[in-house]
Amino acid sequence: MKVVVSIGGSVLAPDLDPDRVAAHAEAIEAIAEAGCEVGVVVGGGSVAREYIGAARALGANEVQLDQLGIGVTRLNARLLIAALDERATLSPAEDYDEAVRALRRDEVSVMGGVMPGQTTDAVAAEFAEAIDADLLVYATSTNGVYDADPNVDPEAEQYERLSPRELVDLVLPMSRDAGASAPVDLLAAKLIDRADLRSIVLDGTDPSAIVEAVLEGSHDGTDVVPAACVEPDAWSGGT
Ligand code: UTP
Repeated sequence: MKVVVSIGGSVLAPDLDPDRVAAHAEAIEAIAEAGCEVGVVVGGGSVAREYIGAARALGANEVQLDQLGIGVTRLNARLLIAALDERATLSPAEDYDEAVRALRRDEVSVMGGVMPGQTTDAVAAEFAEAIDADLLVYATSTNGVYDADPNVDPEAEQYERLSPRELVDLVLPMSRDAGASAPVDLLAAKLIDRADLRSIVLDGTDPSAIVEAVLEGSHDGTDVVPAACVEPDAWSGGT
């Protein structure tokens, strides 16, 4: 089974806690040891936002800001690599070919951002598309996709299951509201729709939730299920 796991920077490194990073590395290793081909995409989190805020105040343009963000995602990716065993790629892949090649060498392939104008949500979807992944998991700090921001609106309700098209339709208005944060951004949702990617959005703060979702399909986040989806074999006993 081929899987891409996107770990938000806010999940992996809200602070620099080695135990947290080690726990996420163990989760990724458990998935690889179970026989999965694993690609990991790491986000920049609050550190990226701090750099971007400081550089914006210094008058940097959007491309410069994105380059700073990409730098932080790659730093976080290196942090995860430091905690992973020797099956992991030595340094974060800087493009999809490099990331796919690492998987073909049977490595756990880790990358951060790729190019300005997007986030690692989109990188994860593109990586998943590039390897015809059976599953794409977004380990975020929010437990799935909601009809409003659950951090702001206590009445917000979670979607248990969506089609890729429904995900695009939901995320579209959120992407227009300045400051509103969708758990998966619009470009990523469009890529999921284009490639019919079986996806899960869940709270990845507890790394064991990622392992259970990948190996058993069980979680309490949101399933994104394309119409013609065949569920991964591993969920019925294979790998
Ligand atoms: P993230 O993907 O971490 O942004 O990329 P995020 O949505 O804030 O995610 P969390 O908080 O980690 O979950 C950080 C920044 O890096 C730049 C963007 O500026 C983004 O906001 N970036 C990242 C790119 O420009 N291109 C990429 O491919 C990836």
